[in-house]
Amino acid sequence: MSNVPSPVIWFTGLSGSGKTSLGKMLINTLKGDEVPCEFLDGDLVRDFFGNDLGYSREERIQNIKRICFAAKLLSDHGITCVVANIAPFYEVRDFVRSKLSNYLQIYLEVAPEVVVNRDVKGLYKKASASGSSNLVGIDIPYDIPRRPDLVLQTGQESIDDSFTKLKSFLIHRGVISL
Ligand SMILES: Nc1ncnc2c1ncn2[C@@H]1O[C@H](COP(=O)(O)OP(=O)(O)OP(=O)(O)O)[C@@H](O)[C@H]1O
Ligand SMILES: [Mg+2]
Repeated sequence: MSNVPSPVIWFTGLSGSGKTSLGKMLINTLKGDEVPCEFLDGDLVRDFFGNDLGYSREERIQNIKRICFAAKLLSDHGITCVVANIAPFYEVRDFVRSKLSNYLQIYLEVAPEVVVNRDVKGLYKKASASGSSNLVGIDIPYDIPRRPDLVLQTGQESIDDSFTKLKSFLIHRGVISL
């Protein structure tokens, strides 16, 4: 086994920015390439722990730390990880970067009005109806990544175009083959 940890490709961006969608496409490509890989979607990790965590700042940070721990173990053992989690705070993104030595941060940049309009999970509608939500971008600020490894404009381009750009970047980094 190689001593270099496998990459952890972490999608960050607002709810509805496309983390899960692009993450699934990437996992399919990695599997097609026979790269050992795992998909760590924030929602699945929450489910695994019986949804014991809510959506406050502290609880979000706890969920991200759980994801980071799993990603580190997998990556150290040669499994490429794809993470879909909003990870909205500088503090926790710095924590993740400090723990993972082969970490690629992919920022899915999208205007808030686009995701509110998409409202894939109905969260934005619910937030506007209730007036309070713990929703990132509404009640909880999203810290714009300062030094992402790649930015994709997922509000302005098609998902296929975003994925093509992602693949080019990952080929360049040697994560996937041509
Ligand atoms: N360029 C793009 N990249 C990714 N998704 C896109 C793009 N254009 C449109 N979409 C659509 O936007 C939606 C994104 O939903 P998705 O569930 O992937 O978001 P998410 O970031 O995982 O949200 P959440 O944080 O709530 O889990 C999908 O319906 C997807 O088809
Ligand atoms: Mg998702």
